[in-house]
Amino acid sequence: MSPSAGSSLFAQRPRSVGCCRLLQPRRCIRARVVRCREIRFQTQFREYNAFCCTGLKELGETAYKEYGPMFRVWLTVLPSVVLLQPEHLQIILASRKNTEKMYFYKLLHNFLGEGLITSTGRKWRHHRRLIQPMFHLSILEGFIRTFHDSARHLVAKLNNEADLSSINITLPVNQCVVNILHEAVLGIPTGSQSTDVSDSPFRQGKVVVPYRMQHPWLLLDCIYRLTEVARRELQHQKHIIHFTRKVSKNKISSSDFGKSAVSGTPQDIPFVDLLLAASETDETFCEEDVVHELGTFMLAGQDSVGAALAFSLFELARHPDVQERVVRELNEVFGSDDRTPSLSDLRRLQYLEQCIKETLRLYPSVPLMSRTLTEDAKLGKYTIPAGCGVLIAPFATHRLPGIYPDPEKFDPDRFLVDRVESRHQYAFLPFSLGPRNCIGELSHSTWLR
Ligand code: HEM
Repeated sequence: MSPSAGSSLFAQRPRSVGCCRLLQPRRCIRARVVRCREIRFQTQFREYNAFCCTGLKELGETAYKEYGPMFRVWLTVLPSVVLLQPEHLQIILASRKNTEKMYFYKLLHNFLGEGLITSTGRKWRHHRRLIQPMFHLSILEGFIRTFHDSARHLVAKLNNEADLSSINITLPVNQCVVNILHEAVLGIPTGSQSTDVSDSPFRQGKVVVPYRMQHPWLLLDCIYRLTEVARRELQHQKHIIHFTRKVSKNKISSSDFGKSAVSGTPQDIPFVDLLLAASETDETFCEEDVVHELGTFMLAGQDSVGAALAFSLFELARHPDVQERVVRELNEVFGSDDRTPSLSDLRRLQYLEQCIKETLRLYPSVPLMSRTLTEDAKLGKYTIPAGCGVLIAPFATHRLPGIYPDPEKFDPDRFLVDRVESRHQYAFLPFSLGPRNCIGELSHSTWLR
């Protein structure tokens, strides 16, 4: 039987599907997933190369060649479908209904809390509507000075390095990003005497989801709770919640609270002020929600921006010709002027933006995402049924040779306007796309510049 329109991949037993390659047991990708067991399932910088270059590269190259742009993998005992083709990704990601994340995002609750990234259903929809306007570029504009000051500190620090021929760039870059986040999200000025950022719990902790997935019995909360790893994770979460609650309580009791958030002018209004102001006018958005959303921004922002910046610098260091073009463009826009850039200055840095995009193509900060379908999805001749998990791997899609010839080559000209227009919109998704995309996509790319 050939897979006809409306045939479901999981409604039938594997062998009865005949030529449906996805479900032929001996040809499925189970063996490869087992081989990836050593790779830690997380995106922190050190593990990034191991996880992506082995696990996801194999998905994108070997598996793609052998099985095509859609195939089944096993995550522990549960089957999911990997989608690589932009046309298929669009059907899933653009859907207003398929916005649920897969079960393992729940495991992030102990780390991220229940903010936008991990929440679902009505709560997610409500919070997203409320918070989206806070990421407007006009609000970000107020923080350009913070970005500029932090970038200057970073450059000064690098200039003080005795040996710049080889440097672990992640440490100073991460420090810079964490400082910016403390200021922009929590309203704690960098270098503030009142709160020591180096003690911040947001500089500690670790995602343990990969560990739990490698030890599937730990997916059961009743067993996991008994372990030392769980004890440490919950302790860390307690610190984060305590710290964030204290920050928001201090804000509420401070004399200037509320003044900036309602004035509406683009000045440096930290997210904590905006969220607290929202909780005053919307009784369904309580202080606990504010605490969880703040924690999410702090944790979501750190690794993603840190990795994007570190990889950008890495690629510029490896490509002096590209670096020279970037410097030339900076000179054209700023000359010898050391002013704080304006939004329009940043918009003129077109080549730099191409470099950042090319970096995010090669090293997307979130290299793997997922959804659980809430309605059937018809992808060509296949139907993926509601309830099925779908894995989306920007790392692999960004390397499909039919879309990006010579995919491993760092070539910022791939992002020249006419070349972008010739590609499918969903061929480039470092911030994801559709209703559950990164909440500040626009502002983050300006921030990175
Ligand atoms: C280079 C920087 C960044 C990249 C590449 C990035 C990428 C992404 C991606 C791919 C998603 C979707 C994740 C998924 O579907 O599982 C996402 C979601 C999200 N990001 Fe970012 N992100 C970046 C920076 C930030 C920053 C700085 C913040 C906050 C301060 C942030 C806040 C969020 C939030 C709240 C969500 C959840 C949105 C929702 O589900 O409604 N991101 N991000």
